[in-house]
Amino acid sequence: MNQLAINGGTPVRTRPFTEWPVHDEREVEAITEVTRSGKWWRFAYASGVELNEDLSGRDLSKVVQFGIEFARFQDARYGIAMANGTGTLEVLLRALGIGPGDEVIVPAYTYVASATAVLQVNAVPVFVDVQADTYNLDPTLLEAAITDRTRAIMPVHFGGQSCDMDAILAIAHKHGLAVIEDAAHGHGSEWRGRKVGALGEGGSFSFQASKNMTAGEGGIVITNDHDLAEKCDSLLWAGRKKGRPWYEFHQLGWNYRMTEFQAAILLVQLQRLAEQNERRMENARYLSQQLAGIVGIQPLRWDERATKHSFYLYILRYDPAAFAGVPRTRFVEALSAEGIPAATGYTFPVYANPMFASQNFHGKGCPITCPYYGKQVDYAAFAAACPVTERACYEESIWLEHRLFLGERKDMDDIVEAIAKVKANIGSLK
Ligand SMILES: Cc1ncc(COP(=O)(O)O)c(C=O)c1O
Repeated sequence: MNQLAINGGTPVRTRPFTEWPVHDEREVEAITEVTRSGKWWRFAYASGVELNEDLSGRDLSKVVQFGIEFARFQDARYGIAMANGTGTLEVLLRALGIGPGDEVIVPAYTYVASATAVLQVNAVPVFVDVQADTYNLDPTLLEAAITDRTRAIMPVHFGGQSCDMDAILAIAHKHGLAVIEDAAHGHGSEWRGRKVGALGEGGSFSFQASKNMTAGEGGIVITNDHDLAEKCDSLLWAGRKKGRPWYEFHQLGWNYRMTEFQAAILLVQLQRLAEQNERRMENARYLSQQLAGIVGIQPLRWDERATKHSFYLYILRYDPAAFAGVPRTRFVEALSAEGIPAATGYTFPVYANPMFASQNFHGKGCPITCPYYGKQVDYAAFAAACPVTERACYEESIWLEHRLFLGERKDMDDIVEAIAKVKANIGSLK
């Protein structure tokens, strides 16, 4: 019998997958150019640029230029680049006037920032479960979560697949709610032929190291709303106002500025994104076809209306019953030993993290006990309302990173072979 690598056998694969980040001389030249220029900082607050105008021949800060180019790429009019994709969410919420006493609906299956950005503006995150077969916010559960305090819905395009934006936008319009897309995974992703991020009021992206384009850190807000763009730009500049003296501050802002170095790298990374995403989609499609015959391991459903999928994460649903009851963590260890890097994803649903369990938000209990809100939110109670998220976190989800999908078909065949091998030898894993 072909012994499992975890038990001392020969691994299916010893060759590494594509390393991430992908980079070449263009990034080196971009950084060198910024270094030599001495312009290391976004050198104009009020850029004076109408964001959809012709840029040729203009001496623009790279940060401003990147904001414009990324927004264009993502089918939006305005792009406001920032330091990271957590601050962008906070800025967007603040710019929309969301604050104490307000509720924002967020999916329970997401990175903590989707919820903590809401807490940072002293509003209350209300968790809604995700769909069992896409791990995206379940629109059929939204209306039951809407109260007279709800101000916004924050869909997260999980793993790079667009949420059902038709359903979410329809419900938001019916109830007069803002839609803030957390598109931290959605670079280049589309919903019915339109890129995500500015399908509602505005959206946020992350350029942190693991993302499909990166400068190590970074983020951006995109929107089609001029006033919202201006408010965001002011907030990330400590509350300055376009056209007003430098040391004049008009609203409570912060410093979320991106550096010229980050923007220079991101301008290069953006050039590769569309082609890389095509390759990810092609390999993902092929892998899903090849996995169809293996009972108990099922990729998330790719909704055909999600016309482009960034595949930031390719997610498998693991059914221990089809693997002789072997828990997912053990299966993932065996798969990794076969040379296929895999992970189980989030430790907890967001609401089950220690900070929610202890209600330790701002030391003095705000926003949950603040006078505007006046009641205690029982975050533990969300467990009963979010069975899909519970299962995904504790039993089911297996994440494969997007870099695995940047190589050849043979890489996909190795993934299939390793999964089949572990399954065939599952008895030896116990
Ligand atoms: C869904 C989601 N939202 C927000 C963020 C925050 O982005 P950043 O790490 O750039 O602050 C992340 C980062 O992983 C994320 O996955």
